[in-house]
Amino acid sequence: MSRREAPPDAFGRTAREYELGRPLWPEELLDRIVSDLELRADAAVLDLGAGTGKLTRALVPRFERVVAVEPDDAMRAVLREVVPRAEARRGSAEAIPLEQGEVDAVFSGEAFHWFATPEALAEIVRVLRPRGALAVFWNIGLEYPDLGEEAEALIDETMERGGMPGLPRVLSGEWRAPIAAAGFEELREDELERELVTDREGWIANLLSVSSIAAQPNEDRTAFAARLRELVPPGELRRRVNTVAYWTRLRD
Ligand SMILES: C[S@@+](CC[C@H](N)C(=O)[O-])C[C@H]1O[C@@H](n2cnc3c(N)ncnc32)[C@H](O)[C@@H]1O
Repeated sequence: MSRREAPPDAFGRTAREYELGRPLWPEELLDRIVSDLELRADAAVLDLGAGTGKLTRALVPRFERVVAVEPDDAMRAVLREVVPRAEARRGSAEAIPLEQGEVDAVFSGEAFHWFATPEALAEIVRVLRPRGALAVFWNIGLEYPDLGEEAEALIDETMERGGMPGLPRVLSGEWRAPIAAAGFEELREDELERELVTDREGWIANLLSVSSIAAQPNEDRTAFAARLRELVPPGELRRRVNTVAYWTRLRD
């Protein structure tokens, strides 16, 4: 990649904005995957790279035991507050704080591209029971609100300064090979397109939570948000996203 990438540990600086600005995961898509994987309500599952628990909160009503592993203290603090029924643990994909064969499935929302390495996959396989499942999700932006030339130039320039966000890594599909090499069946996939409606503050929070903006100094982010408030009038903002999901099981 020609441009420097924003670091994967940037999110914690904007944990509150992350919680405010990022969408929930679509229940309907989750239902389809849980059903296809034949995961039962008494299953134990892991949410890896759980952040503030956007995916965790959808797993808690579905499964008896939900462990949420997140390396960033600020993100985990929000998760504990918002999803108290999950077992929030400090850890990473490279060092998962679970015993061998402890979970039936590993879920990961908007995070797997940060740690799709043979090392992390070996950890995922270690904590999974035989025939255990892996399901990964991303939101891919399709259409954005028209904010006017000046606001859009400001956003482009600010993103450029902060390094590339994770999306190109997702779209490259380079995260697939380590899954196949770790002994999983062929990936199955599904998607769900939806419109997301936010107010201006939700929209700004979403922008501030993107890794390439989250990675910048506090004063720069504050100035960026203040300038956006001058350029974008309050009111509803609509965008379209495609939520993509990929899932598989360990081979026999
Ligand atoms: C974009 S957030 C996704 C959060 C949440 N899963 C969601 O659905 O919104 C990516 C998360 O991955 C975490 N992360 C980054 N590197 C990681 C690693 N090596 N192992 C586990 N989590 C990691 C970050 O701290 C961040 O909270």
